[in-house]
Amino acid sequence: SKTRHFKWEVGYIYASPDCNEKILMGINGQFPGPTIRAKAGDTIHVELKNTLHTEGVVIHWHGIRQLGTPWADGTASISQCAIDPEETFVYRFRVEKAGTYFYHGHYGMQRAAGLYGSLIVDAADGEAEPFRYDGEFNLLLSDWYHQSIYDQTVGLSSKPFRWIGEPQVNNALATYRRNPPPVIRVLGIETTKSKLKKIVGPHKQQAVRYRDSPINQKRLWGPLSWFWLSPPTEQLTSPFLRQEEPIAYRTHQTPPASSTLLINGRGQYNCSLAAHLIEGSNACESTSKDCAPVVLRVLPNKTYRLRIASTTSLSSLNLAIGVSKPSLANHKMVVVEADGNHVEPFMVDDIDIYSGESYSVLLTTDQNPSSNYWLSIGVRGRKPKTSPALAIVNYRPNSPSKLPESSPPIAPEWNDYNHSKSFSYRILARRGAPKPPQRADRRIVLLNTQNKIDGYTKWSINNISLALPPTPYLGSMRYRLKNAFDAGTPPENFPSSYDVMRPPTNPNSTQSSNAYVIRFNSTVDVILQNANALAVNVSEIHPWHLHGHDFWVLGYGDGRFDEKDVARFNLKNPPLRNTVVIFPYGWTAIRFVADNPGVWAFHCHIEPHLHMGMGVIFAEGVEHVGKIPKEALLCGMTGKMLMDNHLP
Ligand code: C2O
Ligand code: CU
Repeated sequence: SKTRHFKWEVGYIYASPDCNEKILMGINGQFPGPTIRAKAGDTIHVELKNTLHTEGVVIHWHGIRQLGTPWADGTASISQCAIDPEETFVYRFRVEKAGTYFYHGHYGMQRAAGLYGSLIVDAADGEAEPFRYDGEFNLLLSDWYHQSIYDQTVGLSSKPFRWIGEPQVNNALATYRRNPPPVIRVLGIETTKSKLKKIVGPHKQQAVRYRDSPINQKRLWGPLSWFWLSPPTEQLTSPFLRQEEPIAYRTHQTPPASSTLLINGRGQYNCSLAAHLIEGSNACESTSKDCAPVVLRVLPNKTYRLRIASTTSLSSLNLAIGVSKPSLANHKMVVVEADGNHVEPFMVDDIDIYSGESYSVLLTTDQNPSSNYWLSIGVRGRKPKTSPALAIVNYRPNSPSKLPESSPPIAPEWNDYNHSKSFSYRILARRGAPKPPQRADRRIVLLNTQNKIDGYTKWSINNISLALPPTPYLGSMRYRLKNAFDAGTPPENFPSSYDVMRPPTNPNSTQSSNAYVIRFNSTVDVILQNANALAVNVSEIHPWHLHGHDFWVLGYGDGRFDEKDVARFNLKNPPLRNTVVIFPYGWTAIRFVADNPGVWAFHCHIEPHLHMGMGVIFAEGVEHVGKIPKEALLCGMTGKMLMDNHLP
């Protein structure tokens, strides 16, 4: 094994990830940050210099265990002090296990500012993955907001609460809401009938057909199949126009979406990719390569590994490749890896992926090679306001700019939770994978609720909303500093009278920085219990991510977790993961062994939810933590401790 050295500078750069120039956080001038590629057993050595001028920074290596190096976990207020402007911090850690990982900022909402990249670990020399493939592609998925993260965080912490990405409520918008002008959109472009010809360009014939006939779905279907509307329109609930629907709609003008889905840092904002690709059309008004669609160049009849990871701030996603009608020829995918762990291979038409998760799927290029195909990413769990992100699977020797003959695959309805559940339930450990201990020493039940604190909207766990302390826990616990964070153990359960199916009867909550202290090497079960949010009939998906460990997913259920559900736990082949979702009104049970000395965050991976307090802290075996580098301690009470020890 090797040590791999990287010298990075984090700084703001201009970039146009969706054809709109903004500033974002880049590394060495790049967005997304450089991909780290290593082999299992290697040591990664990143010298990270903060060139942000006026704010601190840290980087978390998501999915990496950090056994023996808990100070390199890269969590501000938890594992280290944020790196000050112009300062450098060295992240040095071992990557133990082959798999698909990523890294991202973990201070405030810096992940949403674009601070992320891929970390890919190949099998060690002489070892092989238990599946074969001819080539691979890496797809790092994210969502990008036009509002700055400062704007977002202030909104989230304001009274009244302002949700991220909502357009500013101004007069124009209010007028617009009262009196939305009807427009025609074709290919996602606002148009008039007379202009249509021009927009469609080389496909004049079809345009003429459109112009001369009233919208008639049967007549218009066929060669125009790749025409679709740019959501949102009032008529669309699915991101894509269904095949049965007409190609053009008389619709109401909608305010611009506030975010864009990105594939490897590239997407298209509020415009149609199909139009973008049509010769002579500049629907996206940009010639920037930054936002051109990602092209996967493949050969027919080969097998490719797609590494797919999601570091979205908010969105739950669905990915499919092929055509809009599943009954037609389509690309199936075989899921083989989840969060750096092998899973029992299973075949799917599409996959759901939540923030914090990663998968590898095998794609066999067994479709008609004279065509190219769309790879499409749509939104799950929230009514999509964002256009799907598209990439092109380019069968060589076709030109990559040859448009797929069919419209992109249709994502399942955003609220088809049964579809999502059946996918999650199919993920099981590959034969021979490590099995969980048969019983747990402790069970912690964590109720997820949306609350109010002094009128501010928060998320709480067992009625405590996480507020991080100024001194990182790792140092203050290691050196037993008093009053560095709130004393007392947070609750292990919630009242049996609490009705998870209804909004909280008393929404008032409290903030705290207290932590769960877990006996070293003990086995812990955590039951994540979802509930109704503040509004009636609202319960959302939350992807929970654990630092420092993989856990076994023992089971899921609907409604309130009950003692008798324990009998249903899967102890035979539960998958190992580092991120798992709770479905609306449901629960998820996980088990892990507290064998990694350190202090570890366990939290919802939705960036604004974490910011609103949706997380807990686990501390285990802190007395076994080795010498913490001074640079991780130079703030708060540990900083003062160092000064007291060394100044005369
Ligand atoms: Cu990927 Cu604590 O996060
Ligand atoms: Cu959440």
